[in-house]
Amino acid sequence: MKAVPSPAEPDQKPLDFALVRRIFGYTKPYARLRNALFALVALRSVQLPLIAWTTAAVISGPIARHDVRATVWGVAGYLALTGFTSLCFVYRQRLALLLGEAVVHDLRLQVYEHLLRLPMSFFKKVQVGKLIGRITSDVDVVRVCVQDVAFISIVQLGSMLVSAGLMLYYDWQLFLVVLVMAPVLWGMLRHFRRRLSAAYRAQQESFSRVAATLAESVSGIREIQGFVRQDINGGLFQQLIYDHSRYNMISAQQSAIFLPLLEFNGQLFLSILLVVGGYQALGGEVRLDALIQFLFLSNAFFGAISPLGNQYNQALTAMAGAERVFGLLDTQPEWSDAPDAGELPPLSGRVEFRGVTFAYEPGRTVLHDVSFAVEPGQTVALVGYTGSGKSSIVNLVAKLYLAQSGHILVDGHDIQRVTSLSLHRQIASVTQDNFLFASTVLENIRLARPQASDAEVVGAARALDIADLIEDLPRGFQTEVGEKGAGLSLGQRQVVCFVRAMLADPRILILDEATSSVDTVTESRLQHALSKLLLGRTSFVVAHRLSTIRHADLVLVLEQGRIVERGNHRQLLAQGGRYARMYQQFVSSTDLPVATL
Ligand SMILES: Nc1ncnc2c1ncn2[C@@H]1O[C@H](COP(=O)(O)OP(=O)(O)OP(=O)(O)O)[C@@H](O)[C@H]1O
Ligand SMILES: [Mg+2]
Repeated sequence: MKAVPSPAEPDQKPLDFALVRRIFGYTKPYARLRNALFALVALRSVQLPLIAWTTAAVISGPIARHDVRATVWGVAGYLALTGFTSLCFVYRQRLALLLGEAVVHDLRLQVYEHLLRLPMSFFKKVQVGKLIGRITSDVDVVRVCVQDVAFISIVQLGSMLVSAGLMLYYDWQLFLVVLVMAPVLWGMLRHFRRRLSAAYRAQQESFSRVAATLAESVSGIREIQGFVRQDINGGLFQQLIYDHSRYNMISAQQSAIFLPLLEFNGQLFLSILLVVGGYQALGGEVRLDALIQFLFLSNAFFGAISPLGNQYNQALTAMAGAERVFGLLDTQPEWSDAPDAGELPPLSGRVEFRGVTFAYEPGRTVLHDVSFAVEPGQTVALVGYTGSGKSSIVNLVAKLYLAQSGHILVDGHDIQRVTSLSLHRQIASVTQDNFLFASTVLENIRLARPQASDAEVVGAARALDIADLIEDLPRGFQTEVGEKGAGLSLGQRQVVCFVRAMLADPRILILDEATSSVDTVTESRLQHALSKLLLGRTSFVVAHRLSTIRHADLVLVLEQGRIVERGNHRQLLAQGGRYARMYQQFVSSTDLPVATL
C-alpha cells in the first residue's frame, strides 16, 4: 500500500500568448471592470516614479534653499500625491479581486458542466484526485493570472519606463551604469527563483503523497486492521512525513537566503551609483540636485524588478494551470448524440437488440452479435457467470456506451438517432453501485423527480409496501445518510433505491444489483416490492432472486458475451441445457449467488 507518486505534471510553462488571450477572453463579460482596471494601473505606473521625483524635488529644492514656506507646500503636495496613489491602490485591489472572482466562478462552472456531460468511459479512466485538482488549484492559478499578474506587471513595467525616462533626462551617463546593472539583477533573481520554485515543487509533491496515503489508509482501514498492517503502514507514513519536513526545511532555507540577498543587492547597486555619481559631483560634472533626483528614481527603477520577476514566475505557473484546465475543457467526448438526433416520444417500451457487438476497448469484444426482443411490460432476466456481459447489455440499453455494430431499438427508434436526454428520462436504473448522495433519505429519493412533493415520495414507498422500513430508520425519511449511503445497511440502501426508481415511474427499468445477502424477512419484503416495481414496465433484471427469474417473460443465458440459451424458466429447465444444470446446482447449494446460476 505504498503511495505511488503520480508522474509529475510540469507546474510551469513558457509564456504562450494564445493561452493568455484565451484566459483574458473570460474577462469579456466584465469589460467595463477590466478597462477601469487598466486605466487605474496606467495611472499608478506614473504615480510611483512621481512620488520618488517629488521627494527628491522637495529635498534638493526648498529644503536645500532653507525655504520653510516652499518646503511646507512641497510636503503638502507630496502628501496629496501619496494619498491619491494609495486610494488608487485600494480600488485597484478591490476591482482586481472582483474580476478574478468573477472569472474563476465562470471557469469553475464551465469545467463542472463540461465534466457532467462527458460519457461514462471518461470517468472510468480518469483519477478523481486529478479532476479535483483541475477545478480547485489549477483554476486558482488562473485567477492569480487574471487578478494580479497582468496588472501588477503593467504598473511595475510602466513605473520602470517612467523612471528610466526621467533618469535619462537627469544624467545619461549614470543611466548607462543602471542599464548595465539591471540585467545582472534580473538574472540573479531568475536563478534564485528557479531554485526556490524547484524546492517548492518538491515540497508540494511530497505533501500530496502524504495526503494520498492518508486518504488511502482511511478508505482501506478495514484491510489495514484486518491484515494487521498498522505497524507497516505506520512506518511508511513516518518515512513520508519525514521526507515532507525535509523538503519544507529546504525551501525555507532557500527563501532565507534569497530575501536578504535581494535586499543587500539593492543597497549594493545604490552604493555603486553613489560612488560613480559622487565622483562626478565632486568633480563638478553633475549638480547635486540632479544626483539626488537620480538616486531616488533609480530606487524606484530597481524596486520594480523584484515584483516583476515574481509576476513573471506566477505567469509561468498560470500557463501550466491554464493549459491543464483548458485541456480538460477541450476533451471531446468519444461520442455524443448525432447532430440530427430527435426527441424520443413517450414510450410504450419495446426494446430490441439486432446483432449488437460491443467492446469497451478496441480489440476486446465483450458482446458478440447479441439479438433479442422484449415486448412492452415484459421482464427479461439476464443470467450468466461473472464477466459474461450482463451489465454491459444494460449499459447499452441506457446508452451509457455506444455499440460498435448492430442496432438497439426502443419502440422502433434506433437509440443512436435519439437524444440521450430524452431516452434517460424514460429509463430508471438500480445499479451495482447503489449510489446515494450525502443528504436525507427523502432528498435521495426525490432525485428521481425533483418536483415531487414529500407526500409523493412517501406515496412511492407505500406503493411498494416498504414505507415502514424507511420510517423505522432513526429519523425516518429525514435520516441523514453520508456519502455513498454511509450509515445505511445494504438492505436499507436497496429500499431507498427501489423507492427512487418507483418515483421516477420509468417505462424501462434496469435492475443490476450486486449480489447481496439480506436477512430472509427483508429479502421477502424486497421481493414483494420488486414485483410491484416491475409491474407494467419493460424491465431488464440481472437477477439474483430466483423468484424474479421464475416469473421473467424471457431469460437470457449469457456466456462470454454470447446468448447461449433463451426462453422462460420452464422452457429452459425442460431443455436440460446449461440453465438447467446451473439451476440444479443452485437448489442443491443455496450459497451460490443466483445471478451466476
Ligand atoms: N469499463 C470497462 N472497461 C473495460 N472493460 C470492461 C469494463 N466493464 C466491464 N468490462 C469487461 O467486460 C466484460 C463483461 O463485463 P460485465 O460487467 O458486463 O459482466 P457482468 O456479467 O455484469 O459481471 P458481474 O456478474 O460480475 O457483474 C468483462 O470481461 C469485463 O472485464
Ligand atoms: Mg455486472
